[in-house]
Amino acid sequence: MQTQTTDIYSRVRALLPDAMSVAGDVLTLDGFALDSLAERYGTPLYVYDEQTIRSEARGVRNAFTGIDARVSFASKACDIVGVMRVLRDEGLDLDVVSAGELEAGLRAGFQPEQIHLHGNCKTDSELELAIRLGLHAIVIDNLDELDRVAALAGQSDRIVNIMLRVTLAVESTTHPHLQTSGYSSKFGIPHDSPEEAAFIRKVAGSPLLHLIGVHAHLGSQIADPAIYADAAGELVDLASRLFAGGFPINEISVGGGWAVAYTSEGNDLPPRTVAEILQPLLRETGFRLAVEPGRALVARSGIALYRVGSIKRSPGGRIVSVDGGMGDNPRPALYDASYTALRVRSPADPSEGPATIAGRYCESGDVLVRGAPLPEVHAGDLICIPMSGAYHLSMASHYNLVPEPAVILTRGGQERLIVRRATIDDLLARNVNDIDR
Ligand SMILES: Cc1ncc(COP(=O)(O)O)c(C=O)c1O
Repeated sequence: MQTQTTDIYSRVRALLPDAMSVAGDVLTLDGFALDSLAERYGTPLYVYDEQTIRSEARGVRNAFTGIDARVSFASKACDIVGVMRVLRDEGLDLDVVSAGELEAGLRAGFQPEQIHLHGNCKTDSELELAIRLGLHAIVIDNLDELDRVAALAGQSDRIVNIMLRVTLAVESTTHPHLQTSGYSSKFGIPHDSPEEAAFIRKVAGSPLLHLIGVHAHLGSQIADPAIYADAAGELVDLASRLFAGGFPINEISVGGGWAVAYTSEGNDLPPRTVAEILQPLLRETGFRLAVEPGRALVARSGIALYRVGSIKRSPGGRIVSVDGGMGDNPRPALYDASYTALRVRSPADPSEGPATIAGRYCESGDVLVRGAPLPEVHAGDLICIPMSGAYHLSMASHYNLVPEPAVILTRGGQERLIVRRATIDDLLARNVNDIDR
């Protein structure tokens, strides 16, 4: 008979990196016992499995082989150069929203013409850089930005590829903070609006601006494929009208946002399902489909490892405090994101009932997991949180002046440190002119 915790492990197995298993009663990744990695590199520690990054990338690419498709990685999900390099190696393009992400992409080996630039408030220096490097496209978010890009293109006398980001009326079912469609969104030019008409007029009068595509990103954690079909339908209509009007449109981007399951109860939206719904819509149009998933490519490849500092048994339940939290993973505090947890040693022990896994930061909202079925846990034990590869470290802060964690990448039985742990000196280095000391 299986024990209850074997059930916990098998229930969450689909959320774990491909190379994860239990060996000698300890969770291991690519042959490395997680407790040894924690000893060697300290905690909190993030560990990425290269094999999983590659298999997710291939899963997306293979899903879209039926049509001409450009697959970009939304680097906001994970801006670690060592991870981005693996995705470049898998033949993906790149989506960035800042000069910092652009620089990380270049260091990872992406060519400028593989990169497009998003953002609702790009700076002039970011736009100048994008123009100078000759990026695949600048995705124009608003009319003021269009004017600035037109002026900068004129100053440099360069042709600039642009895309039009529209906001569609389509409302996705997701957390309001993950919603980017609907007319109250801060992103994009409202579709079918006077602003959209003004955009088209201005681009028509700017010979240096080449409008090569239209884009809409609907939001994140979207599990319903039907709204991608609605969005693609609207974008195809818009692109066809623009093409007929003489614009050199060749790309339709439906953004990213495919849901991944963070817990065994969570819903996901597999790339194959997205492809099945989009391919028939795009196939006859002659336009190239562009997609830019983030979390779907990297969330499952990364795990977070924390050391338990204390256990409190209160009438409100068991509270397990760990040495990380909202500093390295702000998602639960930002939008109530759910996670699950495993004890690293003897994960097959029976559950002692639900626990709250609390972070170390001075905020009551700093809770990583609520109601996690966990076996008995003591101070000093290690906890592994699956599905930690996306929007953790790229959103990390050093709140409470706690240094950001180190990151390891495991590959074919080798482990490499790809981000060193920050130090307190790193955090204080930007405090200048403390002359009264
Ligand atoms: C424009 C755009 N594209 C792609 C993404 C990636 O979303 P996800 O990681 O949910 O796939 C985002 C996420 O915020 C986005 O804003």
